Amino acid sequence: MTTADAGTGRPRLTHVDCRRSGSGYLAYAPDADSPWYEDLLVSPQATLDIDGVPHAAHAVPLEGGERGFSLRLLELDAARGRAIAGQLLVHHAELREALAAARSELDGVPVAGRSGLRRELLGHCVTFCNGLRMHHLREDGAFTAIEKAHPGLVPALNRLREEHETVSRALLDLDALLQGEGEVESTALREEFERIAGGLEAHFAYEEANLLPALRGEGAAVSLSQLGNEP
Ligand SMILES: [Fe+2]
Ligand SMILES: [Fe+2]
Repeated sequence: MTTADAGTGRPRLTHVDCRRSGSGYLAYAPDADSPWYEDLLVSPQATLDIDGVPHAAHAVPLEGGERGFSLRLLELDAARGRAIAGQLLVHHAELREALAAARSELDGVPVAGRSGLRRELLGHCVTFCNGLRMHHLREDGAFTAIEKAHPGLVPALNRLREEHETVSRALLDLDALLQGEGEVESTALREEFERIAGGLEAHFAYEEANLLPALRGEGAAVSLSQLGNEP
């Protein structure tokens, strides 16, 4: 199970024994201070890896004083689809804003103080990279439900999954570059940042163009109106 670390927002991967319950799972925490248990109290979204397939789940605390959660797997209906479309746009707007803020700060770093560039990027990466990794992990879980409801989206979803992996590798490379001991050419650092930012902007645009109409039920609405217009 992956949760968002309640302290840092970083993804936390934990092996949790779950018991099947209806269409979802029950998970019991061994201790009150089990990190994943505390994470879910703060942010109740989890991604469950079940037989190698990621699933988005919503965690609801168990009643009766039991220390655990009922994990309800995402199932896509019309209302859920519209809600996910809205969340996707909100998260993309936040991530785009963070990218723009990082870029304008980097632009403002004087050439003489170029060592500050690395520090600035590292500061941004702590919040931005963690937020982005959680966003992609949660999307990978949601894609499983979206694929089931909209099989026509399989090629687009596969491309998006591959892009998540590419971005994840690029972020790890950037992080290693920033944390590393050696001197880093500031131009190279800036180019690396722009390469990742450009790739992300294209990824967000492709995701929105391909997923939003289906999630909002616009595809179905068009075909229904087309049927209505037939003689
Ligand atoms: Fe994505
Ligand atoms: Fe996204």
